[in-house]
Amino acid sequence: MKTLVYNADRHGITEAARIIRNGGLAAFPTETVYGLGADASNETAVENIYKVKRRPADNPLILHICDKSQFYDRTQRVPGYCAALADAFWPGPLTIVACKKSSVPGWGTAGLPTIAVRMPSNETARLLIEYAQTPVFAPSTNISGRPSPTTAFHVLQDLDGIIDIVLDGGPCLYGLESTVIDASGDLPRILRPGFITAEMIYDKTGLMPETGQPAGRPKAPGMKYRHYAPNAELTVINGVPELAAAYINDLARKNNKRVGILATDQTFDMYDKEKYVVLNAGGRSRPETIGAGLFAALRTFNDENVDIIYAEGVPETGVGAAVMNRLTKAAGGRVINI
Ligand code: TXA
Ligand code: MG
Repeated sequence: MKTLVYNADRHGITEAARIIRNGGLAAFPTETVYGLGADASNETAVENIYKVKRRPADNPLILHICDKSQFYDRTQRVPGYCAALADAFWPGPLTIVACKKSSVPGWGTAGLPTIAVRMPSNETARLLIEYAQTPVFAPSTNISGRPSPTTAFHVLQDLDGIIDIVLDGGPCLYGLESTVIDASGDLPRILRPGFITAEMIYDKTGLMPETGQPAGRPKAPGMKYRHYAPNAELTVINGVPELAAAYINDLARKNNKRVGILATDQTFDMYDKEKYVVLNAGGRSRPETIGAGLFAALRTFNDENVDIIYAEGVPETGVGAAVMNRLTKAAGGRVINI
């Protein structure tokens, strides 16, 4: 199969919408990462998402909508704070998990009694859903386990020749996947941190969400898998900038592998760019800049064929929590606190 690449203009969006209506798979930009969309009412199309991504069957998808009524049509027993969340953050990078109505088909939700829904703020994404005349199930457009794509080029790196079309809308604004909030109970719980933080949710609802997975079965099944992983082994080094950089320099000197280093504005000058592949993640006090480029940086390390990666940790304030969530997963838990 040849994967069509279209600009994210009206012509391209119309073509992608036609493909979705006909049961195909269309990758499209959102404000977070590129999504891989299929008609949510078409069981075979939704199954194909799992096939091409090699995604475990127990990992449910997010339903992308362009109108709030599409959320209320499919959900029940929605708590009051949920409407406040939808009003405050939709369209935008928040995914709301709510109890689904029994009339909602089982595919795409991995047999759970809940459904995850989000209305993207990216205009291409919203127009695509509108033109397709159906809500669209869409995970990130990467092969399962790899860093999420934030450009059309990344999409093609993983899925060229396997999906029908990609709409090229340039790099994604936030670069990290949406915040996933569980709104199926009396109190909200953040299952996956993102650009919308616990503090922002508190401001709008008066409720401070719990964070982290509840004990027992993970509530966001996707969070239990190794994820976002570059090809090389990655270790996160947490510490104040100068000490972290000195520690990384020491580690890098001691091995004769091809080393990749993810630095920050504060430390970039402390590394030898002749010897190592050094990428600047951004400013430590502005974690949203780091979030925007994180997955692209992990893919660059792949392209540069590094053997080992050392990444500086950043403070977990604001979006920093989401950055560290992705980085520690990419590291498979290899974290050094100095
Ligand atoms: O920003 C985003 O959310 C992007 C763009 C494309 O919209 N999508 C995305 O989808 O990141 P995906 O499939 O890569 O991640 C969906 C996450 C997974 O961790 C999954 O387990 C969780 O949402 N999820 C989906 N349905 C759920 C449910 N009913 N209950 C709990 N978690 C759910
Ligand atoms: Mg994903």
